Amino acid sequence: MGNPFSKIDHNHQCKKRKKSDAFESIVSESSQHIIAINTNYFLPNDENEILRLQLQHYLVRFAWESNFSSPMIQRLTEGAKVLDVGILELATDYPVSSFVGIDITPMYPTVVKPKNVKFQIENILDELSSPNDTYDFVHIRFLSTAFTTDQWVNTVIPELIRVCRPGGFIEFMESDSKLINAGPTIEYITESLTSFMATKGMQGNIAPYLPSYLTQTKKLSGIHCENKSIPTGKWGGKLGDLGEQVMKLTFEVGKIPLSSYLKITHEKYDTLARSATRELNEYRPLLPTCRIWAEKL
Ligand SMILES: C[S@@+](CC[C@H](N)C(=O)[O-])C[C@H]1O[C@@H](n2cnc3c(N)ncnc32)[C@H](O)[C@@H]1O
Repeated sequence: MGNPFSKIDHNHQCKKRKKSDAFESIVSESSQHIIAINTNYFLPNDENEILRLQLQHYLVRFAWESNFSSPMIQRLTEGAKVLDVGILELATDYPVSSFVGIDITPMYPTVVKPKNVKFQIENILDELSSPNDTYDFVHIRFLSTAFTTDQWVNTVIPELIRVCRPGGFIEFMESDSKLINAGPTIEYITESLTSFMATKGMQGNIAPYLPSYLTQTKKLSGIHCENKSIPTGKWGGKLGDLGEQVMKLTFEVGKIPLSSYLKITHEKYDTLARSATRELNEYRPLLPTCRIWAEKL
């Protein structure tokens, strides 16, 4: 099966922004809609996805009652250098610290942003532009749909360790593609996602493997792992309500890759997504999330 995004019809005039072995991103000049091709990343980077990521950010922050778990509060308060693949809000919480946010596409706001934030378009699968031992805190979240197992082990983890300074912390956060107590349609969608990802060499549930990948590097100590399962339906109160909105958008975001993978029409997929959304309040599923953090030796 080819890259699902290569099938998107975009008739606008496009220009290449950057090309490397690992990816090529194209900016449509009329809509600024970004389509990534020649990369494993298979989710769109459009307005709906930005909304889903914002809601997901609030969901995990409320569920975890924090934005991170590493023992970094004091250092961030005093002034630390942070590389962030997705936790912008910290920049306003810690004005003395400096933040670099990276993405393969311009997903971050570039016009209105805190003064202590710099955004860079970079592919973590290429060598990052930062020198060795630059950051006190390196944070990466919800990238399981972007990397193969081989890339996690041989490129992403070594690169995150390289740019973190000794004594600094590296933190990962991921959710499982499968829900706990899923109903039949949710199970069908999430199992399809897991097997679709497997065809690309990716793991739908990377978190349980990360601690052993980190241990293998022999460059980290104090590897911690914490799990939290988040309600996804009105039955779970305000948090569950937010969880339901995130899951509804997540089912929708799967439409292009999964309808292509399952060889079903978009209309048929929409029916599945609606049924899955109903099941959130019938079966009361939980979304498993996990944080893993460690100190660089
Ligand atoms: C699911 S979103 C998560 C965003 C953010 N980390 C968060 O927690 O909300 C994944 C993001 O990673 C970016 N991405 C995918 N592959 C990447 C790569 N190789 N290097 C840098 N960013 C990448 C995508 O463009 C997308 O914005």
